[in-house]
Amino acid sequence: MLHFDAVESTNETAKELLESDVEEGLVVWADRQAAGRGRHGRAWASPLGGLYASFILRPKEAHAWLLGLLIGMPVVKALRHFGVFAGLKYPNDAVYQDRKIAGILSEGVYRHDVYHVVVGIGVNTNVDLDKLPAEVQPKATTLKREVNLFVANEEFLDYLLNQVDDLYSRYRNTRIEFLLKDYRGQCTTIGKRVSAMIGKDRVIGKAYDIATNGALVIADDQGAKHEFFEGTLEILK
Ligand code: BTN
Repeated sequence: MLHFDAVESTNETAKELLESDVEEGLVVWADRQAAGRGRHGRAWASPLGGLYASFILRPKEAHAWLLGLLIGMPVVKALRHFGVFAGLKYPNDAVYQDRKIAGILSEGVYRHDVYHVVVGIGVNTNVDLDKLPAEVQPKATTLKREVNLFVANEEFLDYLLNQVDDLYSRYRNTRIEFLLKDYRGQCTTIGKRVSAMIGKDRVIGKAYDIATNGALVIADDQGAKHEFFEGTLEILK
């Protein structure tokens, strides 16, 4: 594990390190990020106190997106272990009472013809909510805000990485369908009424299943099924 006071983005540092001969499992951890990145090109506010880490995996298949989906499970498990009963909003947001507490950005990268996945995890552990951008504050929460006990980032990361390790061993040794079944059981979006943008179309209906490719299956009010992967997904009340 490499620990930095500050980097631009732990995902970027991990990718730069791929130029040298780094081993699978290398973790880049920083106390803050100057240019933290979220999914869909969004910024990820990364003030001191939060947990920002990326690690390098070298799966046999180009499964960057699927691994990013599955790693939502260990993230939620770690949050629950430390006292926040978070849910897993499709695809991989850890959410507590409709407020986001952790996010995952996984990226597939070829270096010297070898496929790597850089998985970046950001957890609002010991962040004061008012250190996050004003527009994020109403939709975010932090471990510090929800739990009375102080949890050191090191301790959280240690537990989280053990859980990721378990998941990754299962990923290498089990059929992906089994892992997706587990994911389905943990994804709190299943069974909810949702509104999703699929291409240019808005689909409103019930989140119904996880397909074998990891897509969220939404059954609209006419009973037609639609697969959703990425984009805007809103949970309706
Ligand atoms: C999201 O929900 O949009 C994903 C957020 C991912 C943030 C983490 S923090 C560590 C790693 N480095 C980054 O720049 N992003 C990820």
